[in-house]
This record gives sequence, C-alpha cells and structure tokens, in this order.
Amino acid sequence: MLYPKMRDNLTHPVFKIISQVAEQEGVQVLVIGGYVRDQLLHRPSKDIDIVVLGNGIELAQKVAAVIHPSLSVSVFKNYGTAMFRYGTDEIEFVGARRESYNRNSRKPVVENGTLEEDQLRRDFTINAMAICLNQAAYGELVDPFNGIADLENKVIRTPMDADLTFSDDPLRMIRAIRFATQLGFHIADNTFQAIIRNRERIGIISKERITDELHKIILSAKPSTGFLLLDQSGLLELIFPELSRMKGVERKGKHAHKDNFLHSLKVLDNICPFTDKLWLRWAALVHDIGKPATKRFIPDTGWTFHGHEFIGSKMIPQLFLSLKLPMNEPMKYVQKLVTLHLRPIVLAEDTVTDSAIRRLLFEAGDDTDDLMALCDADITSNNADKVYRYRKNFELVRRKLQEIEEKDAIRNFQPPISGTEIIETFGLKPGREIGIIKNAIKDAILDGIIPNEYQAARDFMMQKAAEAGLKQTL
Ligand code: CTP
Repeated sequence: MLYPKMRDNLTHPVFKIISQVAEQEGVQVLVIGGYVRDQLLHRPSKDIDIVVLGNGIELAQKVAAVIHPSLSVSVFKNYGTAMFRYGTDEIEFVGARRESYNRNSRKPVVENGTLEEDQLRRDFTINAMAICLNQAAYGELVDPFNGIADLENKVIRTPMDADLTFSDDPLRMIRAIRFATQLGFHIADNTFQAIIRNRERIGIISKERITDELHKIILSAKPSTGFLLLDQSGLLELIFPELSRMKGVERKGKHAHKDNFLHSLKVLDNICPFTDKLWLRWAALVHDIGKPATKRFIPDTGWTFHGHEFIGSKMIPQLFLSLKLPMNEPMKYVQKLVTLHLRPIVLAEDTVTDSAIRRLLFEAGDDTDDLMALCDADITSNNADKVYRYRKNFELVRRKLQEIEEKDAIRNFQPPISGTEIIETFGLKPGREIGIIKNAIKDAILDGIIPNEYQAARDFMMQKAAEAGLKQTL
C-alpha cells in the first residue's frame, strides 16, 4: 500500500544515505516503529529505528562510514543491534527478527525472521508500521496490521493475540496505558481485557522500567487518564499500592469525606498547565498520601485527616525507595512540599501576619513559588463561593510574600552572625549553646523583632548575652 504522504515524511538526511548504502549492499531496509507513528501524528521524534532484512550491525557500520569515517558505532552483539548518533538523534539498526520469550526468564530467544514476523512481535499496531527506504519502493508504507486505521481511529491494539503480546513483555500493559494517555487514544476492548487478565505478570518487570512509564504518564497533558486506567485494569494496586489505598468515600450519618484518590488526580491535572517540572507534578500526586493513615471520625465534627502532611512527608522516603525513585534532591523536594502544602491555606484562613509569612519563606526558600502553585492546584472544591474565597486569600498571601521578600530577603536566609563569631565573641567551646544563640537570632528576625541585618543581629546577641550573664571576651 502506498501512502502518498510518506515520502515527504522522510526529511531526515540519514534516510538518503541509508537508502544508497542498502542499494549497494542489496539488502532490504525500512524505518519502523515509533518514528513512523510520530511522523504520521506530526509529533516530534528523536530516535530512529531501522530494520534490516539481513545483518543490522554490518549495515550500521557501512552507513556510519559514509557519514564520517570516524563516526563511532556502539554495537550490542547479544541483541544484534548497533547504534550511532547523527547530531542529537540516535539511529538504531536491528536485523528483522522473530522473537519468542522463555516464560521463566526475561531473556528473549532471538531468531532471524521476515519483516512481517518482526512487525507481528511488536507491541501495538500503531508501533508496527514501517516505511521502505530501498529506491524502488522509497516511501512506501508497509502496514500489515492496519496501524494506519488505528491511528486515525485513535485505538491502541496489539498486532497479535494480546495475551501473547503482554506475556512476552508485561511492561507493554503499562505502555498501552501510557500511549492512551499521551495520545488521547482508546485501548481496544480485547486488548484492555488482556491487561486485566495478565496484570499479575507485571511482577517480573523491574521497578525502573515501570517508573519510567509513570514519569511519562505524569508528564502528559492529562495524567489522570493514565492513573484511572491503571486503577481500572488492577495494575495500580500492584505497582503503586499507596495511591490505590486512597480510593473511596466513607460515610457516617451526614458526614462523608471526599475520594482522596480522585482528588489527588484532579490536583495533578490542575497543575499541568502551569508546570512541566516532573517533581512538582509528583508532589501534586502524592501531597495527600498521608491521609489514609490519619483518617479519624470525630462524632459531631466529621472526618479529619489531622497531621496528614507530617505523616505523608514521613512516608515519602519509603515510597521513593520502593518505586526506585532518586533518594537525593528530588526526594527532599517532594518531601518538603508535602510537609508545607497546608501552610499557605492556613495562612489564607487566618490573619496573615508578617511573621508567619517570613517563616513560610524561610522554610520553603527557593521552592516558595512551586509551593504556591501546588496550593492553587489543591483547590478542587465544587463550591464556587469557597473557591472564590480561597483564591482571593491566596492573592493576599502572594502579595504579602512578595512584599516581605523584597523588604527582608528571607527566601535564602543566611544567618547574619556565624557560629565562629559567636565562639570567638564569648570564648565558648563549640557545642549546644552556639545553636541556641543562632536560633534566638533567627527567631528574632523571623518574628520581626529585628531586621535581617548584621548590626541589628549583633546588638540583639549582645543584649541577650548580657541578660544571660555571658561575658564578651573579645
Ligand atoms: N517495542 C515493543 N515492545 C516494547 C518496547 C518497544 O514492541 N516493550 C517496539 C515498538 O515497535 C516501538 C519500538 O519498539 O515503537 C521502539 O520502542 P521505544 O523507543 O521504547 O518506544 P517508542 O514507540 O519509540 O515510543 P517512546 O519513544 O514514546 O517510548
């Protein structure tokens, strides 16, 4: 089948070179998979997969030599693949293969195959299309499983029996959901039923591969789609039980609490138009993760989740560890936002004092704007009056934050008096007392008793020292 537009899709300069070399070598060669899909969808794509009916490694080396004699090619002999970079793009070559997996091991048994066998073993029909690069058929679309129709109808479907496709590589179950989320596609019924049937097989997939897919869902325009599908398929409770546990509404008399799972998804969706930062989006997803553990019913008052921000922040290291997420800066950042996520709301409800604003700036530091974005996204009430009131109060908090920041420069607070100066001034030995004095100065600044300046801090320290009977030795 000739799809007329395909020739125009082959604008990348590497295609002409591959075409020439394939002609000289007399091998059939095609571009295949995600690149073809993304071209047809007019999405940007970086990686180019080339399938060769013959030796992929040899062809890669010959093409690379034409591009530049010293262009280096990475060869993965075990997989029969080779890759080089062309500018920032990765061009990967592989021989067409029929692949079957040994059920007890993740190691595929790779055998040479025909083009159609290669296409059949791929995950989805929209990822199984190929375009010929040989001169006689340059630009011709090879699409035995009608991926083009599925692309037009926005359907995710496996080329072969879905049970086989998923049991070959169970990660594909999450990939199906990820593509549905990223592209706004629907998963064909029999494909989705197979995900439900095979969900337990996800257990053999490494956490890293799973969280990679979760990141892609979280970075999409409407991540809730993906998490709802993960839940409906039964995968969510297997891969992310802490989130699954947040589901449901409990009612006692006239008191019902909101569904914290759906609320978290709404907060995540809400923040997406304002940020592409992966970890801010993660923070939005898990900001209420401590709610199930803190849920209490208080007669006459109703449901409370008192202290859920602290319990939630304590849960973050274990959660990051179990999902194999980075335990350094991203973890600390998410933990900080979870801890602080109620503070601007409490501020907005109370009278906004300068001292409370200074303390928030001090604790949130450079992440103050992200915290405010999270709190904005956290307003999901259906009550328009309530939303209006919160937004108005938040405006006030924002203005105050800006005012105090301009006046006091608290955001990246550095103590105006160093520990060394305290030691030298009073002839003290390093120890607890130094911390107590430093803290007293910090508190005085945050409470607005003294300005955030050296001389004021020094005077304050000397006065407090005199009151406590400490003598200056310098
Ligand atoms: N593929 C597959 N099964 C997998 C992973 C990949 O069949 N578990 C095939 C698909 O044909 C896919 C191609 O290998 O199109 C390339 O895979 P990859 O680069 O991981 O994904 P893309 O489809 O290119 O999409 P993305 O870059 O968004 O991950």
